[in-house]
Amino acid sequence: MSGLEIKSLYVSVHEKQIIENFSLAVPKGEIHAIMGPNGTGKSTLSYTIMGHPAYKPSSGDILMNGERINDWTPDKRSHAGLFLALQYPVAVPGVTVANFLRTALNTQRKARDPEDHGIPVPAFRKLLREKMGKLKMDSSFASRYLNDGFSGGEKKRTEILQMAVLQPEIAILDEIDSGLDIDALRIVAEGVNMLVQENGMGVLVITHYQRLLDYIKPDAVHVMMDGHIVRSGDDSLALELEEKGYEWLKENQK
Ligand SMILES: Nc1ncnc2c1ncn2[C@@H]1O[C@H](COP(=O)(O)OP(=O)(O)OP(=O)(O)O)[C@@H](O)[C@H]1O
Ligand SMILES: [Mg+2]
Repeated sequence: MSGLEIKSLYVSVHEKQIIENFSLAVPKGEIHAIMGPNGTGKSTLSYTIMGHPAYKPSSGDILMNGERINDWTPDKRSHAGLFLALQYPVAVPGVTVANFLRTALNTQRKARDPEDHGIPVPAFRKLLREKMGKLKMDSSFASRYLNDGFSGGEKKRTEILQMAVLQPEIAILDEIDSGLDIDALRIVAEGVNMLVQENGMGVLVITHYQRLLDYIKPDAVHVMMDGHIVRSGDDSLALELEEKGYEWLKENQK
């Protein structure tokens, strides 16, 4: 399958089982949403998919375009087209947004083609201007230090800018909506939808709020509890959760 596949995944952190028998497929061009209570393992799942060294699967498979990537470094996963927008982006004082993004793009190009000499600076400036324009970001952001003193919403928008520059095949968006005002939410969602429509990007969107899914229309909604998916459905499931919370699913499980 082209896209991301997770099969019977188990992940423990400090000997505590967090992800338990988790399976999910996100084909390219599709949007899948995961909702679930706090502490159920959603961020742990995204870190594991991206290859964070503290989150190693004890069993199960993570496949990207049919290839098993369990043992790949985070860099290799990213060069293969995986992207994670973080719930809590970190600041990198001393590195400007423009330099960070150009380095990231050039590293990716080099990994895919060792002969590549990187994008020429004028072409990169043009690309960055275009993407920032689409995300309604002020051009002054390009010369600011990455996430240093950025507001919550600015950090999230910068994550989406990075995604727009790198054009991944599969993007995981962990609570990209938290802290965004309504206008920013709409702009970020438009950016995501554009990459889905134009590039056939697949998306795994993790959110607590149905509202985001009005803007990013999911092909499927999955409820994650106790480390695995307990229910899948269409976007009406998100509305049902909004109304009833999660307890009724627990009761149904018994
Ligand atoms: N590095 C770590 N050290 C200790 N415990 C951890 C670590 N990473 C995750 N956990 C634990 O794993 C559980 C799942 O955390 P995770 O962040 O994946 O939840 P989540 O579903 O993303 O929650 P939220 O909706 O609040 O973002 C929590 O109990 C958390 O404390
Ligand atoms: Mg989380």
